[in-house]
Amino acid sequence: MFVLLNPTIGNINLMAVTIKTAEEIEKMRIAGKLASQVLDMIKPHVVPGVTTNTLNDICHDYIVNELGSIPAPLNYGNPPFPKSICTSLNTQICHGIPSEKKLKKGDTMNIDVTIIKDGYHGDTSRMYHIGDVAAPAARLSHIAQVAMYIGIDMVKPGVRLGDIGHAIQTYAEAQHTSVVREYCGHGIGAVFHEEPQVLHYGKPNTGLVLEPGMTFTIEPMINLGKRETRLLGDKWTVVTKDRSLSAQWEHTILVTETGYEILTLREEEANWKTLLP
Ligand code: MF3
Ligand code: CO
Ligand code: CO
Repeated sequence: MFVLLNPTIGNINLMAVTIKTAEEIEKMRIAGKLASQVLDMIKPHVVPGVTTNTLNDICHDYIVNELGSIPAPLNYGNPPFPKSICTSLNTQICHGIPSEKKLKKGDTMNIDVTIIKDGYHGDTSRMYHIGDVAAPAARLSHIAQVAMYIGIDMVKPGVRLGDIGHAIQTYAEAQHTSVVREYCGHGIGAVFHEEPQVLHYGKPNTGLVLEPGMTFTIEPMINLGKRETRLLGDKWTVVTKDRSLSAQWEHTILVTETGYEILTLREEEANWKTLLP
């Protein structure tokens, strides 16, 4: 997710969006697959007592030594992000920085992985439950996941980004949860965060018209309480202003001639369409 810099004005998108070539798309497929493997690899390590620094170090070594890839977050941005993954715990919305804090039973956490392979990015995240979690926390993770899938399943040429944002927002708000506004999905390719901005709220029939060869993320951040955010003093960690729980899932998507391809899909998600309302 990234910060809103250039909101779409009316129905005119003022920014250029890159259309990937067949060769670029093949590299995006490879990068996406590798990023998804990190989320699977780390799963058995996400247990009570482990520190998020340990999870960061395991992911870093795997990305560099097993996948021959670069962890995109490390030193990204200003101030430079100090770690190789983002770990956003409980009331943290996104961009949580791994630390010496130990996970405990009942925590919920998003791990967000972005890798660079052969010059192209794969970006994906999911929620993890540490031991058994309380029902509202489990419900929130589920709502954020379904919200992401609802957005993904709408992708095809001719559909507009406002249609997708509207569908995600309508679902999340019908569940009495809220959609974060200040951070959004993004175009991705040779550049980590490029145009377009993919808002998780919006109005039907507005915004960019999708075309084959576009690649972008859908990564809704959903709060159990109010939608307002607060940026911590580290200039990265984003938390809910009302200290309510937050959840997020993310995939990197390719627009195809007839619909979409989920470039970061994991095997365990094979039956994801059964989760659609
Ligand atoms: N992976 C995040 C996203 O989905 C961005 C993380 S930027 C970082 O866009 F510097 F915090 F790693
Ligand atoms: Co992203
Ligand atoms: Co991400």
